Amino acid sequence: MNPTIELLQSHRSIRKFTGERIPRDLFEACIRAGQSAATSNHVQAYTIIHVVNPEKRAKLAELAGGQAYVHDSSDFLVFCADMKRPTEAAARAGADVISGMTEQLLVASIDTALMAQNIAIAAESAGLGLCYIGGIRNNPAEVSELLELPEHVYPVFGMCLGYPDQDPEVKPRLPLASILKEDTYQDAGDEDLVAGFDETMRGYYRNRTGGTKDTTWSEQLKPLFTSKLRPHMQGFLHERGFGLK
Ligand SMILES: Cc1cc2nc3c(=O)[nH]c(=O)nc-3n(C[C@H](O)[C@H](O)[C@H](O)COP(=O)(O)O)c2cc1C
Repeated sequence: MNPTIELLQSHRSIRKFTGERIPRDLFEACIRAGQSAATSNHVQAYTIIHVVNPEKRAKLAELAGGQAYVHDSSDFLVFCADMKRPTEAAARAGADVISGMTEQLLVASIDTALMAQNIAIAAESAGLGLCYIGGIRNNPAEVSELLELPEHVYPVFGMCLGYPDQDPEVKPRLPLASILKEDTYQDAGDEDLVAGFDETMRGYYRNRTGGTKDTTWSEQLKPLFTSKLRPHMQGFLHERGFGLK
């Protein structure tokens, strides 16, 4: 193991932050590290909105489902998939552009996620903590309006950044054998691996909550597969000019 791998394997989301501000040079270094991520065809299909206005932060915390750390972290970023800039650049260069392709939605969303994760790692390497905020997709149209996002740009997730004021345990992950296969998708042993992981997670939750949370990974997944999740997303993405064809 080297320090980078150790850092990666010690990740845990941080949801409580000290009031200490992130120095601007460190903040910008993290964003540049994000820009260094691999990007599909060098398209760099993303824009970050650094939300500094306190009222906007408070509104976003509310829109994200009342997540206080959106407001209380040192910095809050909204990561937007952005096909506007590259499409317009191609058009200016003389292309007869086609927009709204589902593949473009994938490219922009993947680029955005890779860039964000580089920022996350850079931040953690400097002693910062972070929490992704998918909750902004609870109300993506309102978030877009608040941040004045144009067509061909959509908010993928947010990220709280700051100095940790908590030291949570690292959350276990699935056994390697369940997510790493050779040559073909062989899932014969997966049920047992998941059963074992369920007990690992039960122990983790019990430990984290002093015994009050007694649940498993599989139990936790149930609501994700028994209700329609953010059913507005398809219509919203279409309205923003994504995933039309
Ligand atoms: C795209 C994305 C969106 C997330 N959205 C939220 C969120 O809205 N609120 C929250 O508290 N955590 C959120 N998380 C954090 C996950 O719950 C967390 O990463 C997961 O439980 C694993 O825990 P760990 O990060 O501590 O290892 C999000 C994570 C990702 C990758």
